[in-house]
Amino acid sequence: MSNAVNHPLNRKLRMALVGGGGAAFIGRVHATAAQLDSRAELVAGVLSSDPAKSRAAAPSFGIGEDRAYGSVREMIDAELALPVDRRIDFVSIATPNFTHFEIAKAALEAGFDVLCDKPMTTSVSDADELVRIVERTGAVFGLTHNYTGYPMIRQAREMVASGELGKIQAIRANYMQGWLCGMKPEPNPARGGWKTDPAKAGSGSLGDVGTHAFNLIGYVTGLKATEVSANMRIFHPERQLDDYGHAVVAFGESQLGMITFSQITHGRLNDLTLEVDGTKASLTWRQEDPNELIVRRTWQATQVYERQPVAAYINDSCRAACRIPGGHPEGFFEAFANVYNAAFEDMILRATGGARSETTRYPNVRDGAAGVRFVEACQASSSERGSWKSLNERA
Ligand SMILES: NC(=O)c1ccc[n+]([C@@H]2O[C@H](COP(=O)([O-])OP(=O)(O)OC[C@H]3O[C@@H](n4cnc5c(N)ncnc54)[C@H](O)[C@@H]3O)[C@@H](O)[C@H]2O)c1
Repeated sequence: MSNAVNHPLNRKLRMALVGGGGAAFIGRVHATAAQLDSRAELVAGVLSSDPAKSRAAAPSFGIGEDRAYGSVREMIDAELALPVDRRIDFVSIATPNFTHFEIAKAALEAGFDVLCDKPMTTSVSDADELVRIVERTGAVFGLTHNYTGYPMIRQAREMVASGELGKIQAIRANYMQGWLCGMKPEPNPARGGWKTDPAKAGSGSLGDVGTHAFNLIGYVTGLKATEVSANMRIFHPERQLDDYGHAVVAFGESQLGMITFSQITHGRLNDLTLEVDGTKASLTWRQEDPNELIVRRTWQATQVYERQPVAAYINDSCRAACRIPGGHPEGFFEAFANVYNAAFEDMILRATGGARSETTRYPNVRDGAAGVRFVEACQASSSERGSWKSLNERA
């Protein structure tokens, strides 16, 4: 086996970042995660919607002055004018929800691969268009539902697929936060002002955290959600967007799922939990304790599977997602980097003419479209007091 980086491409992938400047949150995480394993190098970016702020932020990301751009269009035109061996390979999108579609479309049509944050778009029609563009261009499109990158989530996914839990019957996923408690909307917040604007965010707690829970259910169980019945509320007196909701999800006529999303639960930080019930066993995972997976079988002692790469009970998918020995905590950055690494494998195959599989280890453009469909269906359902809405793609 070759030791060359990104064999058989044998070089680092060149990354551009959109967003992340100033006090922004997730752009910095993208930059760190993508470069964690020295497989990519951040060489270009549009770090802010304000051209001057974008250029000012570039040095703190290690981006040279000549490749700190004022807009996405300027970046794409300038990068296409560079020799192929200097040009970016992929664009990471860490900007407000309403901007994802145009940025992703421009990057894909210019031939670049894309890593986009969630929710993928603010409308199903835009999401479906991105699916078509990805299919037409053959580009790699990854969506940073980063919780799919945790080693114990990879463990759970393989355990379900191999039948260790038996037939899956029920799933519960909750994403509980409390940051809106007592929070007064500021006229000019340092970051995230767009999150309270319905036109820019598209949804509240549903799109912000509910989509992560929805995606995680599909990722671990492999089940396709077909219908949803949702009820949402706006409890915060000065909010216009949902800050709490329940969604019951049906998977055909058999499995049933329940998702709770909240940003008004006092003291909860990023409390994402997943519970899967099978006919042979049930499992529980909690993102605030991500290195453990709890497995229960009736009348047997509860088992705690620890992230311990050398242990016999750890499966290959989990082991491949670990970097350090058990007991040293791995967390958010490493999981995020695992999503990047999975997408890098496909980028290398695309760049070297290799054959790619339909199923991906990273959430892809179809998963992104399913998430946006989930948002729109929950909104429609909740406005009709929980009537059932289809999640199937229109023919
Ligand atoms: N995967 C996760 O865990 C996770 C966590 C937080 C946020 N997110 C998602 O990431 C995205 C960004 O969220 P955030 O919390 O970092 O937002 P933020 O408000 O903190 O930062 C947004 C950044 O994007 C920049 N920006 C806005 N429009 C731009 C444009 N057209 N071109 C270039 N830069 C532009 C802003 O100047 C700012 O620097 C959202 O879609 C959000 O849902 C994902």
